[in-house]
Amino acid sequence: MRRLLLLFALAAPTAGAQLGSLLPVPSSVTPGTGRLVLDTAFRVAITRFSDDRLRRGVERAILRLEERTALEVARTVAAPTASVPLRVVVERAGDRVQSIDEDESYTLEVSPTGATLAAPTVVGALRGLETVLQLITSDAATHYLPAVSIRDTPRFRWRGLLVDVGRHFMPVEQVKKTLDGMAMVKLNVLHWHLSEDQGFRVESKRFPKLHQLGSDGEYYTQEQLRNVVAYARDRGIRVVPEFDMPGHSTAWFVGYPQYASRAGPISIRRAWGGADAIFDPTKEATYTFISQFIGEMVRIFPDAYWHIGGDEVEDKHWNRNPRIVRWRRARGMRTNEELQAHFNQRLMRILRAYNKHMVGWDEILHPKVPSNTVIQSWRGTNYLRDAAKRGFTGILSAPYYLDHIKPATDFYLADPIPTTTDLTPDEQRRVLGGEACMWSEFVSYETTDSRLWPRLGAVAERLWSPQSVTDVPDMYRRLDILAGRLEARGFRVQSHSARMLRKLFPSGDLAPLESLLTVAQPPHFGQSLNGKQTTQLHPLTRIVDAARPDPPARWMTERLVRQFVVNTSDPIPHDSLTVLMRRWQALVPVIRELAGATPAIGEAVPVAEALERTSTIGLEAMAFVRNGTRPDSAWLANATADLKRYEQPQGLLRVSVVPEIRKLVGLLQGVVQ
Ligand code: ACM
Repeated sequence: MRRLLLLFALAAPTAGAQLGSLLPVPSSVTPGTGRLVLDTAFRVAITRFSDDRLRRGVERAILRLEERTALEVARTVAAPTASVPLRVVVERAGDRVQSIDEDESYTLEVSPTGATLAAPTVVGALRGLETVLQLITSDAATHYLPAVSIRDTPRFRWRGLLVDVGRHFMPVEQVKKTLDGMAMVKLNVLHWHLSEDQGFRVESKRFPKLHQLGSDGEYYTQEQLRNVVAYARDRGIRVVPEFDMPGHSTAWFVGYPQYASRAGPISIRRAWGGADAIFDPTKEATYTFISQFIGEMVRIFPDAYWHIGGDEVEDKHWNRNPRIVRWRRARGMRTNEELQAHFNQRLMRILRAYNKHMVGWDEILHPKVPSNTVIQSWRGTNYLRDAAKRGFTGILSAPYYLDHIKPATDFYLADPIPTTTDLTPDEQRRVLGGEACMWSEFVSYETTDSRLWPRLGAVAERLWSPQSVTDVPDMYRRLDILAGRLEARGFRVQSHSARMLRKLFPSGDLAPLESLLTVAQPPHFGQSLNGKQTTQLHPLTRIVDAARPDPPARWMTERLVRQFVVNTSDPIPHDSLTVLMRRWQALVPVIRELAGATPAIGEAVPVAEALERTSTIGLEAMAFVRNGTRPDSAWLANATADLKRYEQPQGLLRVSVVPEIRKLVGLLQGVVQ
């Protein structure tokens, strides 16, 4: 019993001191004395500047405060009398179209007699309201805000999330929910990847065959697009659209094959990677078409930046078309990179006419592309550095691919400007920030929450908080709190596995499978499922889709193993790890039995077996260490070989704790008989 209690104590989020739960960590936090009690007299007044956006923001915050405290309070903005508990003091509206230089700073002073949130702009006030909500604390008697003085301003101006709705569509409600989550962690750019080989997702009135033939009926109407842009603006979030070209563009040509590099008919591409047709950069008509299309879209997307894609241009279609090859050679272009640079120069002219700055993936970095282009580095951090050295501004994405199933630590410790940087201060200013990417080959709107969150919080903090904020255990502690906050607002983070498992297993006890999925995780991006490549048409409702990246027991195990390694005679990590691993060993027979009920559960058996063996190795390794006995060389060779094998997916899933168990075995290296 004592052991189980220990485990619960380790798993429980820290209650109480909510100053320690802020995410992202503000620039400066000075604790005060006492607390501002929250009761039914709670009111918010807006003094000085006010507008509808600010009022809506305050009213949403009041509703969330009500939800959190179950206190019935007045839901509208109050008159600014002396006794109002929270005053919001704003200087001005902020940019009419939120710019990259929007002032997002705020200060928050909480004392026992009242709180003041002050900000130069409405966007700053929206950021501060999120902080107020995160500060709500309770004890047995009351809810309160702890007395504190906070000064806060973001480290980077561009803190984004790319959402790929091309490969798998995401309904408007899910996009809005994602924007709500982004606002909670102070992200400020939704990079909306709206067209792909697998789907063209916006309604075009001018070229209706784009969405009619290129989307399988899954697209946003112009009204919905405007509505999302307004919703984002209400939360201080810019929307940067991406229409990827000249590659990743097959879906455009289902309706308009005349602009493609090969003859039609062309159909929506179902396979991942590679490409079918790409844009023909040699025809004047191509640029007229693109210009007219962009001309239609700029009326929907007011942001000053426009993403042209430019990644992974499969040039076989340029090479196979003799007319394109002749055209290129006749103009003295030796390579297809030069041809793409030409295409980009033409795009740049089009965008300039619409007053847009061009953004593109790092493949577009070329001497012929003007240096006021923004380079989004995805193939490696070195592209960001090179771009800055060559005078380009840049955004970092390479380390922030959420679809690569990596632990939050990896995202957290990747800094757009590391302390070791060799960029000069001027070059550093060209680094605008970063963007997490949620590509959707293996993600549906139903699995998005669990693939984004809570890890996106780690990226958000990296981009907002001071560079010195790098405490990984504290990050995990606060990500756990964030996961709970998201869950409370209807995001499926902690509840994801249970809900998805229900699709496969509509009745019966889910506990063993849920338990497995606290430690088993999806394969890395690019690792095929059981040796099979999937396509867009593959249902995303298998056991792998019920699993979560960086599942909760992985970090718990990492932390316990760290403690054990430091002091192998400390009973707490030893006993807790023992409980965990014994529980994992016991899963195999139960999961084998459940597998009799449906083939889908059978796909979990190999990983359950690997987990059993991994646990056995871990338990035996701890016993050798603790007893001071030595494993023989056969034991060590077998353990090492098995752990090596378990680095790979077993069936559809991976055992997330293999590296931790390897650390336990590592304690025995060098003491082999
Ligand atoms: C990309 O991941 N192809 C930008």
